[in-house]
Amino acid sequence: MIKLENVTKIYEINNDHKVTALENINLEFKEGELIVLKGASGSGKSTILSLIAALSKPTSGEVIVDNNRISKLPDNFAALYRRKNIGFIFQKYNLIPTLSVKDNILLPLVPTNPDEKEALNKLNQVMEKFDISHKQNMIVRNLSGGEQQRVAIARAHINDPKIIIADEPTANLDEKLSLNFIDILRKLKQSNKTIIVATHDPLFFNLDFVDKIIEIKNGTIGDIHE
Ligand SMILES: Nc1ncnc2c1ncn2[C@@H]1O[C@H](COP(=O)(O)OP(=O)(O)OP(=O)(O)O)[C@@H](O)[C@H]1O
Ligand SMILES: [Mg+2]
Repeated sequence: MIKLENVTKIYEINNDHKVTALENINLEFKEGELIVLKGASGSGKSTILSLIAALSKPTSGEVIVDNNRISKLPDNFAALYRRKNIGFIFQKYNLIPTLSVKDNILLPLVPTNPDEKEALNKLNQVMEKFDISHKQNMIVRNLSGGEQQRVAIARAHINDPKIIIADEPTANLDEKLSLNFIDILRKLKQSNKTIIVATHDPLFFNLDFVDKIIEIKNGTIGDIHE
């Protein structure tokens, strides 16, 4: 379902300063798989996620999702692809602190100009699913870390995307909330989402429902545990 073929990503900082973030990597993920990317800081994990989300393009090679060469999409189509297919859960959640829970979760729908009733239905569904309905009118700034994270997860689901991308999802959580997140992940896995997590957190390295742990080493693929 997701393929990276001979992907190289070079960031050009200026004429004589380039960073090779990924060097000729090949990866393939199947539909419904839960993949963990691990590796030292700066090894290239977030770069892989941004390529799959079409937030950036490879310098060479191809990123193919459902037989579409998304690395070749013009920017406006890349945005459309992202909206339809990708749910993001970021380390710092990327929530808007001054908006309510409801408004944050609805944000991904705004560009699609949805039918209001339909949008509210979806909103209620995801708030229910991730146990945040009781805080729906609160300003996000005033929520606890775990609540903010559930808002971020609910927002990542409002479009019912096929692919969930999580970058260091437990970096700001204590152990109890991290374990909660892992429970949520288990449920997502059961709902047949394709999930890719980039993390340093050892909590992810011994889970029975993870399909593959892929080590990223200095922009290349290291050990793979299946
Ligand atoms: N926009 C950018 N411009 C220049 N260099 C970048 C950019 N983004 C990433 N890099 C560089 O590319 C390399 C890989 O970065 P990346 O963010 O993918 O690492 P990572 O594995 O996610 O690290 P971490 O665990 O710290 O999040 C690093 O050397 C980083 O400095
Ligand atoms: Mg990163």
